[in-house]
Amino acid sequence: MDQSELKKVAAERAAEFVEDGMTLGLGTGSTVFFLVEAIARRVKAENLHIEAVATSSRTAKQASDLGITMKDINDVDHIDLCIDGADEIDKHYQGIKGGGAAHTLEKMVATTSRRNIWIVDESKLVDTLGKFPLPTEVIPFGCEQVFHRLDAEGLHPQFRLDDSGQRVTTHNKNFVIDLHMGKIDHPHLLKQFLDGQVGILEHGLFLDLVDTVVVGTQDGAKVLPA
Ligand code: A5P
Repeated sequence: MDQSELKKVAAERAAEFVEDGMTLGLGTGSTVFFLVEAIARRVKAENLHIEAVATSSRTAKQASDLGITMKDINDVDHIDLCIDGADEIDKHYQGIKGGGAAHTLEKMVATTSRRNIWIVDESKLVDTLGKFPLPTEVIPFGCEQVFHRLDAEGLHPQFRLDDSGQRVTTHNKNFVIDLHMGKIDHPHLLKQFLDGQVGILEHGLFLDLVDTVVVGTQDGAKVLPA
């Protein structure tokens, strides 16, 4: 199976965690694309009554086109279960997200949710976080100052650029600065530092949020912890 098929395997297994009556959080990305399809199939086949909050307009459109009832996050009183992809996950289920620049909305939905599950292909499992550049979302006002602060800390910042060399902007019209650290030895300390930086709206370190990871492997879907 190629990487895309492994993502699909994980997504389809994770869709089985959805129960009738739930309010769901739906993440963003290529793995979640398969998840939304699988949930929509279950909704139709089993006549499930669910509603969902999306973490991006892309996911919201796909889900709503497939007949899933979508809600604004401000109009739900809770989210039962959020299922999302991830860019890297270590053995303690700490992760990096934001490869699609949606991490602020994703973290809002994840921290609102009673339970979080990540769905990934096996290439996303790592011993130490940080090979994947850590995304931060930075407001345009003063962003060069933020950049210099991050540089001075030795965090190897780079503004994320699109194919035409323009700075990528997020849903909130902010910039993305990726931290090319190679290795994050102390994720909680880094989180504390980034949380304290004026101008950083949110970063892609997702710590202590997830209790289950569904991994697509060549032997099928594995649910961790087993
Ligand atoms: C979006 O900003 C990200 O956090 C994605 O959830 C993450 O990049 C995983 O994406 P894929 O499922 O496309 O690998």
